[in-house]
Amino acid sequence: MTASSQVTVLVGAQWGDEGKGKWIDVLAADGDLVVRYQGGNNAGHTLYVAGKKVVLHQLPSGIFHSRQTSALAAGVVINPAQLVAEIAKVRDQDVHLTPERLWLSGRAHVITPWHIHVDEQRESRSKSAIGTTKRGIGPTYGDKAARSGLRVGDYVDTAARGRWIQRMKEVEPSFGPLLTTSAEAWAAFEAAADALKPFVCDAESRIRAAARAGKKVLLEGAQGALLDLDHGTYPFVTSSSTGAGGACQSIGLPPRQIDRVIGIAKGYVTRVGAGPFPTELHDQVGALIAKKGQEFGATTGRPRRVGWLDGVALRYVVQVNGLDAVVLNKMDILTGLSEVKMCVAYRHPVLGELTELPWSSDVLAACEPVYQTFPGWSTEIPKSGSMAQLPPEAKTFVAAAEAFCGAQITMVGTGPGRDDALYRD
Ligand code: IMP
Repeated sequence: MTASSQVTVLVGAQWGDEGKGKWIDVLAADGDLVVRYQGGNNAGHTLYVAGKKVVLHQLPSGIFHSRQTSALAAGVVINPAQLVAEIAKVRDQDVHLTPERLWLSGRAHVITPWHIHVDEQRESRSKSAIGTTKRGIGPTYGDKAARSGLRVGDYVDTAARGRWIQRMKEVEPSFGPLLTTSAEAWAAFEAAADALKPFVCDAESRIRAAARAGKKVLLEGAQGALLDLDHGTYPFVTSSSTGAGGACQSIGLPPRQIDRVIGIAKGYVTRVGAGPFPTELHDQVGALIAKKGQEFGATTGRPRRVGWLDGVALRYVVQVNGLDAVVLNKMDILTGLSEVKMCVAYRHPVLGELTELPWSSDVLAACEPVYQTFPGWSTEIPKSGSMAQLPPEAKTFVAAAEAFCGAQITMVGTGPGRDDALYRD
């Protein structure tokens, strides 16, 4: 972050798993406050701290910076038992996590065993499943929109929680029986309330005050812009607003308060779950990238689908989110390939050549990619330093991606560690 960018939003610029966790951790180093603004424990942010791999699902990825405060804002959904476990895991790593350092919004919504049950049922019964993480995300956001959800502030209040359970018994015939059949899950769910209570506060007014006071605030998105509920590849999306606009809505932060928006993309693309993916590779090259890039879901362990960089989709994400800069991550994974490709248009059997991401997932699914092909490089990319040190072929690829998507590529990821990065001079 530069001195002039006090409030920065970091969004995933593809279908998630771009490596946001690492970059938030890196960019948070000189920050005061890191805020997670949407999603729940469907996310899996992997960091390497002191050489040790840590996967965070709900806590913001800046949590390991000791002088910093972390917040979970109104737009997130919380799995209470899992959050308690995650807090314990982080404390085990000597992080002094007190209520002063972790603000949990009373407005955020709670994922209950009921929501997880509904997610599992819908996924297993449907012939055209979305391929969700089965963490109850869609049903929780669905209840929020239907005004029948349980908010964190009510969850930690025994009487209010009881009223919510009573109401659910009245309106959902299978809710009462589930209380009995999943008694253990409900017991764990209820038990977490007391542990979380000290963290619950009006996180949003504190975040606004920090922004007004000129503190360095990082707003951390989960999943990716192409999984956005409105602007992603619906219905193969997640149920929240993953983009930069979602940060303002989640926190109640005026849009003018945002100074900078950074998108994190990989030098190639991955996707977990179902949905259109024009540049998907089904060959040896795809298998090689998947293996070298260890492309397995951090939350579910599912193998990720792998494909070439989709320039059309990246340009769309730049425009939807107003990206000021793009991080091109995991470029080291492409080293050794004889050629690398970027999709610059789609070819549809009826509509012909398309230069924009279509709004319809059916149309996108029928598209073939039109590629620009670049020579590969076999020289290892230096681990750290300047982007000027990239092998010439990699430089050409980065320059082409930058020109095509319309945002400056300011950082290149070269490995999983905090220091594995090349920066624009
Ligand atoms: P849900 O968010 O569990 O409802 O899943 C909806 C879609 O978003 C599925 O395709 C998931 O695989 C995808 N998804 C959810 N969270 C993540 C993530 O953190 N990374 C990548 N894909 C995700």
